[in-house]
Amino acid sequence: MIVAVLNRKGGAGKTSLTKDLGFAFADGGLRVLQVGLDPQSSLEVLAGLGFDTPPDRTVSRLLMPEEFGDAGPLERVVHETEWGTSLVPASKALATAERALGEAGRGGSAQRLRRGLQRLSTAERFDVVLVDCPPGMTPLTMNALIAAESVLVPTQLDFLSVAGLAVLTETVEEVREYDNPKLGYLGIVGTQVDERTRHAREIRAQLEQLFGADAGGALCRTTIRHSTKVRDAHAAGLAVGQLEPAHPVSGDYRELAQELAERAALDARLGVAT
Ligand SMILES: Nc1ncnc2c1ncn2[C@@H]1O[C@H](COP(=O)(O)OP(=O)(O)O)[C@@H](O)[C@H]1O
Ligand SMILES: [Mg+2]
Repeated sequence: MIVAVLNRKGGAGKTSLTKDLGFAFADGGLRVLQVGLDPQSSLEVLAGLGFDTPPDRTVSRLLMPEEFGDAGPLERVVHETEWGTSLVPASKALATAERALGEAGRGGSAQRLRRGLQRLSTAERFDVVLVDCPPGMTPLTMNALIAAESVLVPTQLDFLSVAGLAVLTETVEEVREYDNPKLGYLGIVGTQVDERTRHAREIRAQLEQLFGADAGGALCRTTIRHSTKVRDAHAAGLAVGQLEPAHPVSGDYRELAQELAERAALDARLGVAT
C-alpha cells in the first residue's frame, strides 16, 4: 500500500507523522518504507542523513533515472533508519529534479515516482510505503498522488487549517478524476491536538460534519495530542514510541497505526497491542 502523507500547509505535521506512524507500523510487525519527497529534507535530518546524501542514493534517482547512468545497483537508494523502517531519502539536490519535472516535454513527468517504486519492487517488499510530501502543490506532490493508492492528511485543529482542507480535497478529487482513479483517503487525522480547548472541540465537531462517518468517513477517530515529547524524540533521532513507549502520545501513534491498519485491511499482520 502506497500512502501520500499530504497537506499543502507547512508545519501541519506531515514529517512527524511519517516518522512516528512509520515506527508504530514497523513495531507492529509491518514492513515499512518511507520516501522523502521534500527538498527541505526534514525527515532526512531526523534520520541522521542530513541534507547532502549523494543524489544517486536518494529519491532523485527514482525520479530521474536518465541522469544516473552507471551509478551502481538501484538498491543503493534504500537506507535503514533508527526507528526500524527503510528510507529512500530526499536531499537538497531534489530541488533540481523538481525543476526538471516542471519543464515541458519531460516524458511521463508525473508518473516517475510510480515507475521508480515499481523498479524497486516495493509492492512485493513492503506492506506500507509512506511518502512524506513537500508543502504546496508541486510536481513532486503530483508524483506522490499518482504513485499512491491513498492519502493520509494530518491537520491541526484550528480554523485556518480546516479551511485549507477544502482546497486539498478539491485537488485530490481532480487527481482521482483525471489521473489516478483508484486514489482514496486512508484518513484525515488531527495532530498537535489540545483537547482541552473549546476551539479544538468545535473544530473537531466541524470536521465530523465534513468528513465523519456520515460524510465519507475519512476522519480518523484517533487524534495525536500535542506533546513536547514529540520534539524531544526528533532531537534524539528516534521515534517518540522508542524514546518513551509509555507516554500517552506514543499510545496515540500506536492507536492510529491500529486504526489505519484496520481501514486498509492490514490488521491481520499488525500485532500492535494498544
Ligand atoms: N504531536 C505533536 N506535538 C508537538 N509538536 C509536534 C507534534 N507533531 C509535530 N510537531 C511539531 O510541529 C512542527 C511541524 O511538524 P512537521 O512534522 O515538520 O510538519 P510538516 O512536515 O507538515 O511541515 C515540528 O516542529 C514538530 O516537531
Ligand atoms: Mg515536512
